[in-house]
Amino acid sequence: MSAKILVARELPQETMAVLERVAALEVHRRETPLSKEELIERLRDKDALVCQLTQRVDAEVLAAGAKLRVVANVAVGYDNIDVTAATARGIAVTNTPGVLDDTTADFVWALLLAVARRVVEADRLARSGTWKGWDLLLLLGSDVHHKTLGLIGLGRIGQRVAARAQGFGMRVLYHDPLRLSPHAEEDFGVEWAERERLLRESDFVSLHVPLAPDTRHLIGAQELAWMKPTAFLLNTSRGAVLDEEALAVALIEKRLAGAGLDVFEEEPKVHPRLVTLPNVVLAPHIASASVETRTRMAVMAAESVAAVLGGARPPNLVNPEVYDRLPAARGE
Ligand code: GLV
Repeated sequence: MSAKILVARELPQETMAVLERVAALEVHRRETPLSKEELIERLRDKDALVCQLTQRVDAEVLAAGAKLRVVANVAVGYDNIDVTAATARGIAVTNTPGVLDDTTADFVWALLLAVARRVVEADRLARSGTWKGWDLLLLLGSDVHHKTLGLIGLGRIGQRVAARAQGFGMRVLYHDPLRLSPHAEEDFGVEWAERERLLRESDFVSLHVPLAPDTRHLIGAQELAWMKPTAFLLNTSRGAVLDEEALAVALIEKRLAGAGLDVFEEEPKVHPRLVTLPNVVLAPHIASASVETRTRMAVMAAESVAAVLGGARPPNLVNPEVYDRLPAARGE
């Protein structure tokens, strides 16, 4: 077995077994990502890299991997990888779509309900020993049922969030450059809206777009100003899709009722002003973190690596051009 794989963060055991069958493994077991220098050094003799979204894989890193054939990201998002540079070198990049949609959608609802119904504040009070008993005006939140939910992005995860909204009797607006057919809109129970109308009319706005140059700070001061002062914002996509400073200002000035955030612009840092606000529910990027889903994601990444090293086209290619247009680059 001459192929070598760098696993840039320990994975569930069943995943390691898939990888061990096809190559020799070198595993980075620390919680912190490898530094760029360490990654460059370790990739020199590797055929494959399995990494998480905290591991930056830029053009220089890819250039150091002279034998590298595949980078498998254990995540659906892949903004941590310079895909253009990988494609130019004939390196396949894979991600883990599909398996995390329902789990992530569940967590959007966990955040939405937690912030609207003040669950975190309630938990703190119930534990504090200072609760005086039932009170008509205690911790009044905001109703969720029969309100309007606005989805910025109606891809796989956005669709699963929309499906759950039906149980709450909600009206669902969506904004996506890819508009569904009227028939599909009816099936999903969603209505397309211009971004401004969606933001003005929604009681809850949830972000479901990948991070790309055109989605960076997609929601900034202007967009937040369009939202109702009684509305809530939810972000489980990528931190930089939202201008956190503008959000903190809007919340402090009470131009927005609250926010539920799983992702941050400079993870693991959380904006210091957001941390002080009681009407913000914060989570450390765990929307897909169920045992079942994280295991499925890791196995999927391992299977992609096994496919490439075994000479097959991997199922979840982010850059199909590597196989479709650059056979020469792969020596085929
Ligand atoms: C998590 O954020 C992912 O992209 O899978």
